[in-house]
Amino acid sequence: MSWTASILTLFPDMFPGPLGQSLAGRALENGTWNCDVRDLRAFGLGRHNAVDDTPFGGGAGMVMRPDVVEAALESVSRHDGAPCVYLTPRGRPLSQADIRRYVSGPGVALLCGRYEGVDERVLEERSIEQVSIGDYVLSGGETAALVLLDACVRLLPGVMGSAESGVEESFSDGLLEYPLYTRPAKWKGRAVPDILLSGNHAAIARWRREQSEKATRERRPDLWTAHLSHASRPSVHEGHSS
Ligand code: ADE
Repeated sequence: MSWTASILTLFPDMFPGPLGQSLAGRALENGTWNCDVRDLRAFGLGRHNAVDDTPFGGGAGMVMRPDVVEAALESVSRHDGAPCVYLTPRGRPLSQADIRRYVSGPGVALLCGRYEGVDERVLEERSIEQVSIGDYVLSGGETAALVLLDACVRLLPGVMGSAESGVEESFSDGLLEYPLYTRPAKWKGRAVPDILLSGNHAAIARWRREQSEKATRERRPDLWTAHLSHASRPSVHEGHSS
């Protein structure tokens, strides 16, 4: 069984979208992963296949009905422990650790919201994780689901060559990547840092580490603080001598 993304959406034509191209597209073609798209409208009620209704308590917009969302979830054979994730700006921030957890299982079910959102009760009833891809509001969860899937698919076995997989490791120790340079060595009066042309691999590794730390400190003080508190904890390898 290949890793399966089940996607519940009112816009099924948005999938696989960009994930039909490049490495993810090739992996989809060769069966490394499977894109199982469900149209929420097919589970709508009444003559107009209604999927939403007005919010109790008043206010703008419409809310997706819990019975419709549940019926769509029921149609997905998910008795195998695959997490169900609702993409919403109200969710906790998506992290690389979440991505690794999703990849380590049989797949994910992704609920894409439109309108004002989804009735809270179905989220509780079905233990649905609520995840945000950042502090901005998209017009719906579909593009967020594509982002989540892109991050998952590239980690599936065989999708990336060894050259690209190093990038994951450099982010995994909690630091941003160092800056990259290629030919020409001089461009518009800008030279590549001398150290990168020195052939001294130890010095280059040291420089790159410093650059990673500098970028993280300056651009992402939140990641830097987390990195420091992690680094100050004794690791299992270092042990503790008393
Ligand atoms: N839906 C709308 N905005 C979103 C966001 N920032 N993250 C995840 N899902 C969303």
